[in-house]
Amino acid sequence: MNANYSDDNPALGALYGAHLESVKARHDHALEQAGASHVVVFSGSPKLAFLDDYYHPFKANPHFVGWVPLTALPFSYVVYTPGETPVLVYYQPRDYWHVVPGSPSGYWTDHFDVRVISDTNEAAVHLPEDREKCIAIGEFDDESLAFGIDRINPTTAINILHFARGVKTGYELAVMRLAAERAAAGHLAAEAAFRDGLPEFEIHRAYCQAVSHTDSELPYGNIVALNEHGAVLHYTDLDRQPPAEIRSFLIDAGAQVHGYASDITRTYAKDDRRFAELIARMDRLELDVVSQVHAGVDYRDLHIGAHGLIAEVLVEAGLARGQPDTLLETGVTAAFFPHGLGHLLGIQVHDVGGHQQDEAGTIVDPPSGHPFLRLTRVLEEDMVLTIEPGIYVIDMLLENLRGAPAESHVNWDAVDWLRPYGGIRIEDDVRVMADTPENLTRDAFARAS
Ligand code: GLY
Ligand code: MN
Ligand code: MN
Repeated sequence: MNANYSDDNPALGALYGAHLESVKARHDHALEQAGASHVVVFSGSPKLAFLDDYYHPFKANPHFVGWVPLTALPFSYVVYTPGETPVLVYYQPRDYWHVVPGSPSGYWTDHFDVRVISDTNEAAVHLPEDREKCIAIGEFDDESLAFGIDRINPTTAINILHFARGVKTGYELAVMRLAAERAAAGHLAAEAAFRDGLPEFEIHRAYCQAVSHTDSELPYGNIVALNEHGAVLHYTDLDRQPPAEIRSFLIDAGAQVHGYASDITRTYAKDDRRFAELIARMDRLELDVVSQVHAGVDYRDLHIGAHGLIAEVLVEAGLARGQPDTLLETGVTAAFFPHGLGHLLGIQVHDVGGHQQDEAGTIVDPPSGHPFLRLTRVLEEDMVLTIEPGIYVIDMLLENLRGAPAESHVNWDAVDWLRPYGGIRIEDDVRVMADTPENLTRDAFARAS
């Protein structure tokens, strides 16, 4: 694996201290507002499959990962009291059935008072004595693991922490650049596998090999879609056999570094020029939207603006006819582009807080008719978000236009032409800046090729 992705990377180590100060500051604020003196952040516990003795892949509490880059460490706690060195209660069981977490090592260790425990009950003595003054952040399927802390995930604190996570620290940006770079290598390998005529399953394997992730290490299930499968927005089947004719390839796949995700989509044509030209046109559209990203912009406006641009592309491509406003109002663009323009990205692929207007938790709903928009905030510098416009032939949605004014705005012959290709989505990960944004994805591809 690329040494830059290890937690010995000195460049990340140099940024981590300042990151931790930001994390502490937001917890200081959350504690003050919640009227508490200590916060206990629990990493989580593995979940058993129903009626079984096997566990689902462990997914750590994202708040824990925000403190310390340990994504595979259940039954552990960060215990923080403002003004004091945070304590990391590090669970290292004596277990001969599984590989146990190694000894604490990496650029983060010096910043914590690390206490290794081998039994979950030993955590109790490392928690502040006065549990009344504690809040706990985490998922406690077994409440005994909160050791008597009653205030679990209080809304006041959670809202503050979620809102703050929208803006990334310098360390987080550095890690996310690496996550983009890691995924870009996977995308290049996947494109080569597609060009070789391999089936979805083999393309997926080529991707995982290139990013050095197992399936459960991927930030989300890879979408590896040949031909019409590209129209299934969350297509995660992996056909073992190639289709008789390979026409197109849509891949939505990310990678993670220290628990931070990338989320990237590309679409390719095999031979068809008309489809290749439509991809190129969507690529220009996507870059146009990216260029509009800057601090102060309301993401809802970007989303609605993207619908206007999609309307233009639909007309140019002969898929629809009419004025952009009419195509929006009649629901034509929503039938071809039925998901949100994008979302916040970070520890979670769909990072929390996308609808929060403020740290008090005021919610801004998506615009009417656009229920799937996951980001409605006014953009701030150093937010990281995706821009992912698409057009698809989803018959279930297009059929709804029949019998309505929209029907006459659709060129159904062109829809029949596009259907066998599924759809097109282009998705980049973008850092908001005062002016021109940083495109983590394009930069990563440029470095990789
Ligand atoms: N890969 C999921 C998404 O793009 O939101
Ligand atoms: Mn996305
Ligand atoms: Mn995606």
